[in-house]
Amino acid sequence: MNTMKKIAALMFLMLSLVMCKDKEDDMDDMAMNCASSMPVGEDYDLNLPFYSPNALIPTENPMKVASVNLGRHLFWEKRLSGDNTMSCGTCHIPSASFSDPSPTSVGIDGTFGTRNTMALINLVFQPIITWDGHQPDLESQSAAPVENVIEMHDLWVDVLVELEGDTLYERLFEEAYGSPCLDKERSRKSIAQFIRSMTSFNAKYDRAQYGPETFTPLEQLGLDIWNDEGGSPPEVPLGQQGADCFHCHSLATEIFTDNQFHNNGLDSVFTDLGQGGVTGNPAQYGRFKTPSLRNIEYTAPYMHDGRFQTLEEVVEHYNSGGHPSATVDPFMKFTVGGLQLSDQKKAALVAFMKALSDEEFITNPDFQDPF
Ligand code: HEC
Ligand code: HEC
Repeated sequence: MNTMKKIAALMFLMLSLVMCKDKEDDMDDMAMNCASSMPVGEDYDLNLPFYSPNALIPTENPMKVASVNLGRHLFWEKRLSGDNTMSCGTCHIPSASFSDPSPTSVGIDGTFGTRNTMALINLVFQPIITWDGHQPDLESQSAAPVENVIEMHDLWVDVLVELEGDTLYERLFEEAYGSPCLDKERSRKSIAQFIRSMTSFNAKYDRAQYGPETFTPLEQLGLDIWNDEGGSPPEVPLGQQGADCFHCHSLATEIFTDNQFHNNGLDSVFTDLGQGGVTGNPAQYGRFKTPSLRNIEYTAPYMHDGRFQTLEEVVEHYNSGGHPSATVDPFMKFTVGGLQLSDQKKAALVAFMKALSDEEFITNPDFQDPF
């Protein structure tokens, strides 16, 4: 009898433990995943000019006014970091076209990363995300910094616990997704949408190419040699003594990137393997995403490790021809001899790049800290 009782008690205990565990799992699931993460309400209009490239918007994350607004709040929310001191905007600073004036950024624990913070501009047109393409899409990159130990060093579960019960976020999530439920999926989708809303087409370049303004003679020379092949015949049969920038920073895309990875000759020995570090393919060692050059005047220092302080230094790098290596790009044709540009042509390239600056973009109130 006694043993029977004991067994029964034990079974009851086990059963309730199992049930309790189930209940906990349910609660975890509820906290982790809201029923729907489809944005609702009025469509967000990107207001793009007729010559803009195609916007890349995933069908499962259509842009809506309310979710862009939620994304903006989360982007600037310091509670997304472990010690509540750092938001995405701490590294992605508006006056620097949402990049960082230091060569590599410091996270909440004072640890330096190894790469230069990328500008956030016109990403809605760009299929490659991050310097080496280690993130498949903007949604992933919108969630990753939170849990990156050398960046915001937090956990999404903890972030959500902190934001839950905040009436502001209950309202913003309700407006964006139809219910006041908070989860990581809704959060990362909204941040991605906010970043997609950050488009820039109001530089002097736009007003001169497609409007009534005119380039200065120096800017025009910069544009002309941008699109000319480097070298001169007979060494380079088609050479026009140009600067040869267009192959990779192509005008045709309107955002001055060909949306590819290249090794632009920065090093002969790689400390950062770039795309090859992600894929393991030696043919891709030292290759990095070609960045858009819009607002390049504001985003110093330059390159994936922030090694160049000024645009003049960048031009000098290309003029020197760069460093040879097994993977240096075929478009870097002058690793021996250099481009041999005159001082005037070098100044023209810098002047042209400065014509890509859009001050309205960096001061646009829609992108600034709402808190
Ligand atoms: C500690 C500084 C820091 C913080 C905080 C930070 N970032 Fe970044 N961000 C970087 C760096 C550095 C890179 C380049 C990473 C790489 O390529 O390895 C980057 C790259 C990106 C890119 C890729 C841009 C491109 O052109 O491909 C996006 C998008 C981005 N960050 C969004 C965010 C969001 C959203 C947050 C907040 C959740 C955030 N970042 C927080 C430093 C930071
Ligand atoms: C072979 C392709 C290629 C050619 C040709 C090329 N670039 Fe680049 N450019 C790149 C890549 C790739 C990067 C990023 C490299 C890195 O950080 O490792 C880059 C980076 C830059 C940057 C810094 C961007 C930033 O956000 O830090 C500037 C400015 C620039 N290029 C200007 C030029 C100019 C001016 C020319 C012509 C003289 C030119 N490029 C020719 C591929 C190219």
